[in-house]
Amino acid sequence: MKTTMSIALVLWLAGFASAAEPGRSHTMTPEMSTQHNTMSVMNKQWAVCKKSLEAGDFATAGASLERMQKAVKDMEKFKLHKNSEMMENFKEQADNFRGNLSELGKAIKEKDRARTQGLSATIEKSCVQCHSVFR
Ligand code: HEC
Repeated sequence: MKTTMSIALVLWLAGFASAAEPGRSHTMTPEMSTQHNTMSVMNKQWAVCKKSLEAGDFATAGASLERMQKAVKDMEKFKLHKNSEMMENFKEQADNFRGNLSELGKAIKEKDRARTQGLSATIEKSCVQCHSVFR
């Protein structure tokens, strides 16, 4: 009886700890933790890609972009926890985003600096736009 009670207490405390995670008002589900990882990769690689483009380092920019293109595939499976009824809109934005990444890939291969700068700005806007509705 005593053991059962302490197990229950530990479970209760564990639930409490995960609910109290900073910036989150609810417990993270496994899907959300994967989405979090996907977007962390996106964020990190985009920072490197953008910086490399500014420096004219197309090789590094291209490598980061490829990692973003892998991550973007996981976005199709996102379970939205904000405006989840707008899944069509989300898919549309994700498609546009993927399209722009692919255009950027071409511009990088062609070492077309002006075009990479333009696409970089477009991509940056699409991060903000999608987050304003779904993040
Ligand atoms: C098509 C929509 C969409 C686009 C485009 C998008 N994101 Fe996100 N992003 C999301 C959603 C949805 C979340 C919330 C994911 C979650 O918490 O499950 C998110 C979360 C994030 C987070 C927080 C991760 C976390 O959980 O701590 C970062 C950082 C981020 N995105 C960076 C970026 C960057 C950088 C770009 C552009 C290069 C970008 N995102 C483009 C939809 C998008």
